Amino acid sequence: MGSAGKYAVIDPATGKLDRSIFSEQAVYDDEMEKIFGRAWLMIGHESLVPAADDFFHTYMGEDPVILTRDGEGRLHALLNMCRHRGNRVCRVDDGNAKRFMCTYHGWTYRNDGTLEYVPGEVEAYYGALDKPSLGLIQARVETYAGIVFATWAKDAPSLEAFLGDARWYLDTVFNRRDGGMQALGPMKWLEPVNWKTLVDNCSDNYHVPTSHLSSARVQTRFLGRPKLSHEDQFASPNKHAFVNGHSITFRDADDNMPRYVHGVSTDTMRLFQEYHEATMPEVERRLGTFRARRVQLGNHSIFPNGILGLRLALPRGPLKTEFWHFVLVERDAPEELKRVIRIGSQANNGAAGMFEQDDVDNWRQVTEASTRRAGRRHPQDLSMGLGHAGRHPDYPGLVSERYISENNQRLFYRRWEEFMNAESWADIPLDPVRGQFDGTATMRG
Ligand code: FES
Ligand SMILES: [Fe+2]
Repeated sequence: MGSAGKYAVIDPATGKLDRSIFSEQAVYDDEMEKIFGRAWLMIGHESLVPAADDFFHTYMGEDPVILTRDGEGRLHALLNMCRHRGNRVCRVDDGNAKRFMCTYHGWTYRNDGTLEYVPGEVEAYYGALDKPSLGLIQARVETYAGIVFATWAKDAPSLEAFLGDARWYLDTVFNRRDGGMQALGPMKWLEPVNWKTLVDNCSDNYHVPTSHLSSARVQTRFLGRPKLSHEDQFASPNKHAFVNGHSITFRDADDNMPRYVHGVSTDTMRLFQEYHEATMPEVERRLGTFRARRVQLGNHSIFPNGILGLRLALPRGPLKTEFWHFVLVERDAPEELKRVIRIGSQANNGAAGMFEQDDVDNWRQVTEASTRRAGRRHPQDLSMGLGHAGRHPDYPGLVSERYISENNQRLFYRRWEEFMNAESWADIPLDPVRGQFDGTATMRG
């Protein structure tokens, strides 16, 4: 770390990364302010609050937040903190309610955040309480293809600008169908890891043939999935791309292959294939031919803490992360296909998912290494593929030459520095949108 409060943790020339960012409380406290107090954060999905007066309890960093849909259908992200002394006004995970009553003294808020009723407003407060200024604190809310984002920063750019060209890739999973997606879950658990270890792992495909060897062998043997090998990865035409802090990996997809990974087996392949063929004209209309037929988003993260679809790494201190796992399915997909995807997703990445358990062990060890006297003096080495990424004629963002690269990791920690060193959003650069967004799909779905 540099002097005068300036963070310089990743050396762009060597890829050396200071380990203290995974364990120091002061760094973590700064992250809460400068990253989680500022970035657009994934907080949920519109399908979790489909009807008027529905609500879903979520978090922005460590702050508890109620995602509500008011009587007019508008979304709100309300800080779950009574403006009187600070109790939570909502203590359940989800439901349907026009009002939230604080159970300390009874202040009662409408689901648009307005403070509606205060016991003793006339008798105890002598009519002097400034009720209009004491509504629940609200974050800004915007959506992308049904995914709800919120930010505390009044000066943040639009969500569209924040996502930028990352959306060009994200559309190939989240924005394929007219009917949109549906979120199932979440499954929640705690991990003894720093939140950044999960995020940087999202474009680390280098670990897959090693860390997941036994899990992959099980899949090859029982599900008929192809074998994993380093050789295949090094020769792969797939790539990494990096935009505005968002780490993308994508497949140069085969035109005729179904798009889903989880749940595909020799038994279920026909189901996926039929769905792929039946929906391709619609997907092509929505995304244009190139993206519909040739680009498939793979592992990815949305800065700062959205990972692999609608999954959240919620920080709970430097050495702890609360993990939320949703499964997203296309709403109009056949029920049988949704079932297969849901089960496949849990088997891979749920709390008991085979791959998840391999991963958590890695993240725990990376985190622990940063806490030890001798180990923490020596930086991580993120030098793979240095100098082998740039602009590409067909793909937006900063694109790696090869699939296996640490370009996205280096850039993720660079983005982290940009947020941590910025005084305001005016200091945080955004890439201009360069991607060709063919088709009818928009931010709204
Ligand atoms: S703390 Fe909520 S009414 Fe007093
Ligand atoms: Fe993994």
